Amino acid sequence: MTGLVLLGCGKMGQAMLAGWLERGIRPEEVLVVDPGAQAREFAEAHHVRTLTDAQRLPADFAPDMVILAVKPQSMAEAVQPLVRQLADRPVYLSIAAGKTIAGFEGWFGPAARIVRAMPNTPAAIGRGMIVACANANVDRAARELADRLLGAVGAVAWVEDEGLMDAVTAVSGSGPAYVFLLIETLAAAGAAAGLPPDLALELARRTVAGAGELALAASEGPDQLRRNVTSPGGTTEAALEVLMGEAGLAPLMRRAVAAATRRSRELAG
Ligand SMILES: NC(=O)c1ccc[n+]([C@@H]2O[C@H](COP(=O)([O-])OP(=O)(O)OC[C@H]3O[C@@H](n4cnc5c(N)ncnc54)[C@H](OP(=O)(O)O)[C@@H]3O)[C@@H](O)[C@H]2O)c1
Repeated sequence: MTGLVLLGCGKMGQAMLAGWLERGIRPEEVLVVDPGAQAREFAEAHHVRTLTDAQRLPADFAPDMVILAVKPQSMAEAVQPLVRQLADRPVYLSIAAGKTIAGFEGWFGPAARIVRAMPNTPAAIGRGMIVACANANVDRAARELADRLLGAVGAVAWVEDEGLMDAVTAVSGSGPAYVFLLIETLAAAGAAAGLPPDLALELARRTVAGAGELALAASEGPDQLRRNVTSPGGTTEAALEVLMGEAGLAPLMRRAVAAATRRSRELAG
């Protein structure tokens, strides 16, 4: 590998950089470009070279891949020096929410190799779910490199149809917020049932975390795991009659995911 440029080394960029270095990418293979002092300090503490500005890229610099990890609203401006200096030579891997492959092709040209990925916040602890989509110019080697870089912060799934990225955003991108809400509401319900609020929160957090781990580790699906906890006439069944009723969780979740999918489409515009 001759080089990676990480454009934007904020929360997500730092999580990825740390993951790459842990997985054997050498610091000298990476160049971080970020105007922020904290971002550059983080990179330099890991012996990674930094620049404040992509306009300072050496003229003969030829990275294999440029990872675009700036905020979506900063993207149009942030890519301009790359358009001028690197054009369509490197592979571009964007993790910016809502930024489409067509948009990047508009900047870098129709021959550019573009991977668009959607991570989620558990990537910050290496437990993300990342869904990626490549344009037709991306060859197998570029896809494998992207898969390796994204895999440093979580599990990676690929979709062929970019249109699915809106639903992906609605499920795994925004999904952590739904789970945090579940923790909040379960804790509040526990407090309403008489538990001290601190204890209720601890029970809710650990129940969600433990059940999530079990759902990942177990060979059974979540439906079977649910049945395993539900004895006929028991307490779980009493709760599930409410949660699985006509106005229960399923229609609510369907509406929530549909609303997020719609909003993702609108934002990508
Ligand atoms: N955080 C998440 O959970 C999450 C989830 C899914 C997708 N994403 C995507 O990941 C991307 C990064 O998000 P984040 O949360 O890591 O944002 P962030 O913490 O704000 O990091 C963005 C970094 O880019 C820097 N930057 C701004 N303009 C730049 C430029 N022209 N050239 C180079 N660097 C520049 C910022 O510096 P300053 O702070 O000095 O402006 C900042 O250090 C976003 O596109 C977001 O949609 C994030």
